Amino acid sequence: MNDMINVSYDSQIPNNVGLSSDRRVLKALKKWHPGYINWWSGTIPKQFQDANVYLRTAVSVDSGGWAKFDYVKMPDYKWGVLLAPQVEDRRICFGEHAGEKAWQEVPGEYRAMLRRLIVIQGDTEPGSVEQQKFLGLTAPSLYDMRNLFQVNVEEGRHLWAMVYLLHKYFGADGREEADLLLRRSSGSEEAPRMLGAFNEETPDWLSFFMFTYFTDRDGKMQLESLAQSGFDPLSRTCRFMLTEEAHHMFVGETGVGRTIQATLNAMSKAGITDPYDINGIRDLGVIDLPTIQKKLNLHYSLSLDLFGQEVSTNAANSFNAGIKGRYMEHRLKDDHRLSDQTYTIKTLEDGLIVPKIVPALSAINMRLRDDYVVDAMGGINRWNRSIKREKIDFTLRLPHEGFNRSIGLFAGHSVTPNGEVISKSSWDTQSVDWLPSSDDASFIVSLMKPCHEVGKFASWIAPPKVGINNQAGDFEYVQLHMA
Ligand SMILES: [Fe+2]
Ligand SMILES: [Fe+2]
Repeated sequence: MNDMINVSYDSQIPNNVGLSSDRRVLKALKKWHPGYINWWSGTIPKQFQDANVYLRTAVSVDSGGWAKFDYVKMPDYKWGVLLAPQVEDRRICFGEHAGEKAWQEVPGEYRAMLRRLIVIQGDTEPGSVEQQKFLGLTAPSLYDMRNLFQVNVEEGRHLWAMVYLLHKYFGADGREEADLLLRRSSGSEEAPRMLGAFNEETPDWLSFFMFTYFTDRDGKMQLESLAQSGFDPLSRTCRFMLTEEAHHMFVGETGVGRTIQATLNAMSKAGITDPYDINGIRDLGVIDLPTIQKKLNLHYSLSLDLFGQEVSTNAANSFNAGIKGRYMEHRLKDDHRLSDQTYTIKTLEDGLIVPKIVPALSAINMRLRDDYVVDAMGGINRWNRSIKREKIDFTLRLPHEGFNRSIGLFAGHSVTPNGEVISKSSWDTQSVDWLPSSDDASFIVSLMKPCHEVGKFASWIAPPKVGINNQAGDFEYVQLHMA
């Protein structure tokens, strides 16, 4: 049982935080648990609740034990409270408390700020499960279905992680916030999820892959900056969540990559070399590259909005307070206080996009977003290499940061993917070339026919290069028990 050293299964809730001797928190979590199960069963369609899914479960938090593969019914998945191991004598590494001992309790003066950040992070986790709830019905393979469910159960566990922090450190108002996390719902009129991108629809699998590539990557950046937190329990929680988040982005990158590969294969077989022969390509039952670019434009721009205002006093305050750092703060070589430093952002002046120098402290969000863009380029370059290999003259690009924005300095302006500022009326006539039209959407939806046969894949997506946990191509990733 060496790989279980850290996790106790002595209550309903697997954990490495000593829950069995923490009566108060255990009681609060047990009270919250039925509401959670209720939310889960009301979200994921019944037939999938009964299926055996080949899932990865964390049974410990060390490198060897956090990925145990087995068939599990999703409602029996071990939602647990798992924190990365405590680092001895950990110090706050930025802001006005830099060098002081990391906090094991919430500092009173930062209570409200911390609670807000935890609630916002917590709200995204169930939000994405709600957005993806019907995708199982149209899964292009059992392999993909399994990946979807893996992402879903882990987002569920991430909700548990945030709820634990609320219950443990925020008393009655923490418990109230934890209840509200189950009450808000993606796309709801009365009680929507807190952030825009989590109220958008995820109507098809290409959206799911773009979402996991771009939006889960925002999640990664937020978790990375919270992992730097001087509030040690938050830091440890986020560090462990990041190990799971990497798989979500893998699902996104390989999902889009396999979609592109199927398109390239079909084009080559049919002797089509023009990527803009939209009808010819669609007739092959695959998604043309220009439409993939439009989906990319949409999900990328929605994800940029998640970083908030480019210039933000809130962000400056939480950095100063030592609550939320920069990406890889511990590796950066500066004073970690940013008192006299500057940062260059882009802004709009008289209809032109121009650079503007602002105090670095105020541009924390922008900096994180810039780091995100660099991180997001990796997969795009790999996708483009596969297009080049097939000698197709097409390059996927990230649109300009001002394109299709609803939050920040570019909100309310019409900016092309190339970064040209145009009039509202030109936007209205041209945006159909940049964002998925209703025709594009219905074409993609027409391809979303379930392919639930073992080892088979829908026409529009290529099989993966390697199976999950190195399973063979004919492995039954999900055992469906259809009546
Ligand atoms: Fe998550
Ligand atoms: Fe995620």
